[in-house]
Amino acid sequence: MEQFVIKGGRPLVGTVEIGGAKNAALAILAASLMTSETISIDNLPNVTDINALLEAIERIGGHVEHTGPHSVKLNCAHIDSFNIDCDCIRKIRASYYLLGALLGRYKRATVPLPGGCNIGNRPIDLHLKGFRSLGAKIDISHGMIVADSEELTGAHIYLDSVSVGATINIMMAASMAKGNTVIENAAKEPHVVDTANFLNSMGASIKGAGTDVIRIKGVEKLHGTEYTIIPDQIEAGTFMLAAAATKGDITVKNVIPKHLESISAKLIEMGCQVHESDDAVRVVATRRLQNTHVKTLPYPGYPTDMQPQITVALGLASGISIVTESIFESRFKYVDELTRMGASIKVEGSTAIIEGVERYTGATVSAPDLRAGAALVIAALTAEGYSTVEDIKYIERGYEDVEVKLRELGAVIEKVEEEKDIQKFKLKHA
Ligand code: EPU
Repeated sequence: MEQFVIKGGRPLVGTVEIGGAKNAALAILAASLMTSETISIDNLPNVTDINALLEAIERIGGHVEHTGPHSVKLNCAHIDSFNIDCDCIRKIRASYYLLGALLGRYKRATVPLPGGCNIGNRPIDLHLKGFRSLGAKIDISHGMIVADSEELTGAHIYLDSVSVGATINIMMAASMAKGNTVIENAAKEPHVVDTANFLNSMGASIKGAGTDVIRIKGVEKLHGTEYTIIPDQIEAGTFMLAAAATKGDITVKNVIPKHLESISAKLIEMGCQVHESDDAVRVVATRRLQNTHVKTLPYPGYPTDMQPQITVALGLASGISIVTESIFESRFKYVDELTRMGASIKVEGSTAIIEGVERYTGATVSAPDLRAGAALVIAALTAEGYSTVEDIKYIERGYEDVEVKLRELGAVIEKVEEEKDIQKFKLKHA
């Protein structure tokens, strides 16, 4: 089983190139099924969630050509099945985007119900409400969602709570429905806007993405396009928090600083310097961090996907900090692991009360999910001595070559497979 072994205690210094946004890429790859013409996508992150979705697209007849390390050409002219049921698709939550894409183009789809996830109960009732409003019949049987309709018709859809997935899924299906659709209380995340821009570049007519109200005029046909995915706001934020926690100086490059504003604001409150330029943000931390309070919210609020990383940093800040998770109910599972590194954090329901400690100490910890795994790596980078982070398959779902990028910033980290490699690492870095 692969794991990261880390010797902590060094500030991270240097520049890191941020890749394409995983969560935008998942939606955009699914939307590529909506035309028979060829789609070229660039700035695609090479992470396991993306590769699982590409495999699923190939399984139903899509043709995928890797034209470079971060680019693919897709042709979905010969989709021969609307029933997607393979191991690859069961692994990823974003399988639900295939429902919106296939329903839009072919008016039918059968996709496994996304299983429970380790960050909490993740219902898809709002996605289904949207599809039903567009006229689809939805059945759930034998663990599968079966959607079909004679014809999709535009509708006025109010989302009872803000959902990124439901907004994107309805946007995809409605793009090929007859007539006009309005989505109210829509999510405004950068990847919602990126998916809308992508669909528009295929000939869709979507207005208002990035605001609470999205208006979609259905079209009969979508065409091929060439598209570059936006930079990953969460990968960038993770390195920004790594700079803060290790008292380092990191420039994240190839980013859209506007997407990082809530993270930059919190870092400034914590006593870091944040310098923005056109496509880069530099975070400098020279002294002990100060406490602050954080509440996760839909965009432009502070992202839930950055909650574990800031909790780890605040665990080292002076004073008491309070972090409230308002999106997913089980997103503090990593706190037990962090406690084993010396953190003093009490979780009560959706709130973590953090009493900053002077330092963490190295330990063997296990990544409970993607973002919490990245946060534990940050903790290990600050910790005194050696740490091992197990279950890194979660981290690799969303971070490309994270250990390589960290090494370039001066971190002492290696990906190893066996106990003897850990011993070798310790001897080498004694
Ligand atoms: N919700 C419902 N009903 C629904 C859909 C959502 O009640 O039908 C609730 C959820 O339970 C949650 C809230 O609405 O409380 C927001 O969920 P949302 O639908 O926005 O999340 P998602 O689409 O399932 C995406 C990202 C997550 C990210 C969230 C929030 C993808 C593939 N996933 O999930 O990313 O945390 O938005 O920004 O885009 C990650 O990358 O690590 C990750 C978990």
